[in-house]
Amino acid sequence: MTNNIDPCTLVLFGASGNLARVKLYPGLFRLDLLGRLPADLKILAVGRQVVDLDAWRADIKSMLDAKFKKGYDPQVFERFIARNFYHANPPTDPDAFNKLKATLSDTQTFPQNLAYFLSVRPVDFAPVVESLANVGLTQEDKYWRRVVIEKPFGTDLPSAKALQAAITKHLKESQIYRIDHYLGKSALQNILLQRFTNTVLEPIWNNQYIDHVQITNTEMLGVGDRTQFYDSTGALRDMLQSHILQTLALTAMELPKDLSPEGVRDAKIKVLEQIRPIPVNELEKHAFRAQYSAGEINGEKVPGYLEELGNPDSVVETYAALKLFIDNPRWQGVPFYIRTAKRLHEADTRISIRFKKAPLQINDQDQNWLIIGIQPRECIKLEIQSKIPGLDVQTRTIQLDAANRLDSDDSVDAYEALLLNLMQGDNSNYLHISEAEAQWRLVDPVVKAWAEDKRPVHQYPAGSRDPEASKVIFEHQDQFWRYSIALGGDKYSH
Ligand code: BG6
Repeated sequence: MTNNIDPCTLVLFGASGNLARVKLYPGLFRLDLLGRLPADLKILAVGRQVVDLDAWRADIKSMLDAKFKKGYDPQVFERFIARNFYHANPPTDPDAFNKLKATLSDTQTFPQNLAYFLSVRPVDFAPVVESLANVGLTQEDKYWRRVVIEKPFGTDLPSAKALQAAITKHLKESQIYRIDHYLGKSALQNILLQRFTNTVLEPIWNNQYIDHVQITNTEMLGVGDRTQFYDSTGALRDMLQSHILQTLALTAMELPKDLSPEGVRDAKIKVLEQIRPIPVNELEKHAFRAQYSAGEINGEKVPGYLEELGNPDSVVETYAALKLFIDNPRWQGVPFYIRTAKRLHEADTRISIRFKKAPLQINDQDQNWLIIGIQPRECIKLEIQSKIPGLDVQTRTIQLDAANRLDSDDSVDAYEALLLNLMQGDNSNYLHISEAEAQWRLVDPVVKAWAEDKRPVHQYPAGSRDPEASKVIFEHQDQFWRYSIALGGDKYSH
């Protein structure tokens, strides 16, 4: 099955970079193994260095060997490797893009529908688009031309607008594919389907029944060797502005008019634009940040963020939590707590929904939670109260727990799904400019206020739970951070 993909050439800028090595080439190869690539798909790597084709193909083999440790079908490998070509585009060569055009004009080798994947530094997005346009390589007539822009699309609202203005001189919105790789995850795509294909969920998905929603991404990993990038970005921009707000949009959106790319994106844009701006004059009730200090992860001692960075004065957060409200009839009054952290005690991404108190309350803590696990476990779990068999009237919480992913299911990586969508011309899992803008509009004032506030930032030891002080953003005393669904009794933070 090749999903009616037009013959096309995928042009990969930054082809020897980490993303290409770890995700894009292995992802494309897996699509080939699954029989999902069209027979006449070609892949043209564009890199700064001059590399001959044999050496490049050997390099691709090393990328695949690193990923597919158990080996792979040699016939598919032969087919895949024959799809691959290399073009050197030295930054110093003023004629580089004309030469690229000349390479691509070999119509015997390269189908003329062209998808450019810009896995390059963000500052190079606009110049590459401009250079492609200057030699006529973005012009659509008989053939389509699409451009994938990696995250981040800008670093704030003005820079996102500037990037948009620069690239829309040459591209229509329908040609631009802005990546948020979370949208390629099956678990995220499932949120919309699970919500709206189940009669039992939709009627209770509103402020009449829901007390609050938590959308959480925590990692045990630290910033690793990305200290420089991270210190100019921070957790709020790195994760909340993008992946977590997209997860929120899917959790909170209205039923789209249909499942077309426009239908889905319109519904997401609408809800993102309905999020109430965060009041900076009382920021401390709505936003909390912290940094990890030295601690222990899996029994191993690890340094704190400031030590890794080598700058004791940084106020950049590795933990960020926000309280948001959505001003529409469905969600009026329901807080959405979104948070992300590096080096917390567990790595888990989930949506936790707490329902309002039931009319009969036997224990104080009795409340229904519905949890959608995104990763590592894809599942849906409902906690309900039930009588403890015996002579007394006592209840306990029991769990209905179902896997959204079975062992036998295909484990398609987010990038594989997104690459396939790109070739199919389906941009529903890519960001519309209005989504990127709404997300920046929301977080920009917080980023600015935090950058200006040079007081020392709260610390949490690596491997610990949420800092106690983070609870300041809760609306009600009885609210608390909900932990992993896998830990049974260990799930509450109070
Ligand atoms: C990236 C962030 O976008 O997403 C990283 O820059 C983060 O800091 C990563 O670790 C998380 O992605 P995933 O798919 O591993 O949850």
